[in-house]
Amino acid sequence: MGLELVLLKVLLLWHFHLAGGLRPQAFTKVKCQDSCGGITVPFPFGIGGEGCFLNEWYEIICEGNGTIPRLKRINAEVIKISLPYTPDSGSMFADRSGTIEVNLPIVYSNWTCALDSNRASMVAPNLHGSPFVYSARENVFFAVGSSNLLAVIKNTGPVLAGCSFGCIRQCFSYSGNCSGYGGCCETGISSLVLQEFGVDFLKEGKLISNGGGECGYGFLANESWLRPKLPDLQALIKDGHVPGVLHWGIPHNSSVGVQLSKSCTKKCMKRTLSGLPYPPYEFYCRPGYFSNPYIMDGCRDIDECEDLHLNDCTDICENAPGTYHCKEAGRMVKFVMRGIGAGLGSIVSLLLVWRFYKTMKKK
Ligand SMILES: *[C@@H]1O[C@H](CO)[C@@H](O)[C@H](O)[C@H]1NC(C)=O
Ligand SMILES: *[C@@H]1O[C@H](CO)[C@@H](O)[C@H](O)[C@H]1NC(C)=O
Ligand SMILES: *[C@@H]1O[C@H](CO)[C@@H](O)[C@H](O)[C@H]1NC(C)=O
Ligand SMILES: *[C@@H]1O[C@H](CO)[C@@H](O)[C@H](O)[C@H]1NC(C)=O
Ligand SMILES: *[C@@H]1O[C@H](CO)[C@@H](O)[C@H](O)[C@H]1NC(C)=O
Repeated sequence: MGLELVLLKVLLLWHFHLAGGLRPQAFTKVKCQDSCGGITVPFPFGIGGEGCFLNEWYEIICEGNGTIPRLKRINAEVIKISLPYTPDSGSMFADRSGTIEVNLPIVYSNWTCALDSNRASMVAPNLHGSPFVYSARENVFFAVGSSNLLAVIKNTGPVLAGCSFGCIRQCFSYSGNCSGYGGCCETGISSLVLQEFGVDFLKEGKLISNGGGECGYGFLANESWLRPKLPDLQALIKDGHVPGVLHWGIPHNSSVGVQLSKSCTKKCMKRTLSGLPYPPYEFYCRPGYFSNPYIMDGCRDIDECEDLHLNDCTDICENAPGTYHCKEAGRMVKFVMRGIGAGLGSIVSLLLVWRFYKTMKKK
């Protein structure tokens, strides 16, 4: 009886340990709500009281009876927050920056063009003063309208990119169909540091305000979401928003930025998000580590031996900080035991022992 209980306890503890290793607590400050509407909210973002988020730019409010996360400062619904991700191999920074996917408004040439004026907005959020930029890599500028219009996206001053609606075939290959709207077009915005944008609609080189019943719609949107099938434009225009991607870092002079810069050595690394007047810092876990680099000592060792895809050992895999080693079987029994102990093997072996013990008891 006693042994049975002990074994059961060990098994339970093991499960607890495994689950605990990947708990959201690893991503969020202790005592803060870690998700809203099924969306995980990692620090520096946070829900709740002060201390849960780095500063007001990262505050998330959970609306709609706890189902809709919203980035409070820019009043945008949050779809997904991603921490910087470092692949295990390849170039150090051939990676993905920290991103936040939010609903961005469609910009209409005139209010009267919005199908639901309650939901319509004419301007995209202004990110000046924040450590966020509109991602030039992940977003594209897309516009819809009468075929004789030209849409341009501009950064408070100069025109950044433009596209004319007469170019469906040349611009892109969608399986969707824009002809109900005269035309649509898409263009990249290259690698600009974009924190604010407007959209102008031109006809024969002149700005249209109410172009004689002609309506134009322009937006920045997550390119992967837009492809490969063009979404239902009618529904989009009615909703008044599309998912777009912001790229984020943290202020270089924030207390967390300063502390992390000192402590981030072996397990994490830092880079600067260039192009902004006060360049934010981005922190990454080094290859072989995972979890949240924005929490003190937040990068944890990946146990490559637990996942067959992460190691190429033929016999025994031994985990080490940031890496793993392969050993040959038969050289040392100690390693074999450790190898089993480190993996799911321990659960299986414990179950076997337990089974064996029960069988013995019956006899
Ligand atoms: C909010 O959720 C609770 C629990 O699921 C439910 O009882 C309540 O009716 C909901 N309130 C609204 C306004 O939807
Ligand atoms: C696009 O839609 C229009 C009207 O709905 C239709 O007449 C046209 O044939 C469609 N074009 C293609 C290529 O599917
Ligand atoms: C929008 O359209 C309305 C009605 O056609 C027109 O009166 C108004 O001047 C237009 N507003 C702007 C800002 O162009
Ligand atoms: C962009 O959209 C795709 C498809 O919906 C999604 O898988 C991806 O995570 C989005 N990108 C970001 C950075 O959130
Ligand atoms: C960080 O630097 C900016 C620009 O110099 C300044 O406006 C801001 O107050 C500083 N923040 C802190 C926490 O020192």
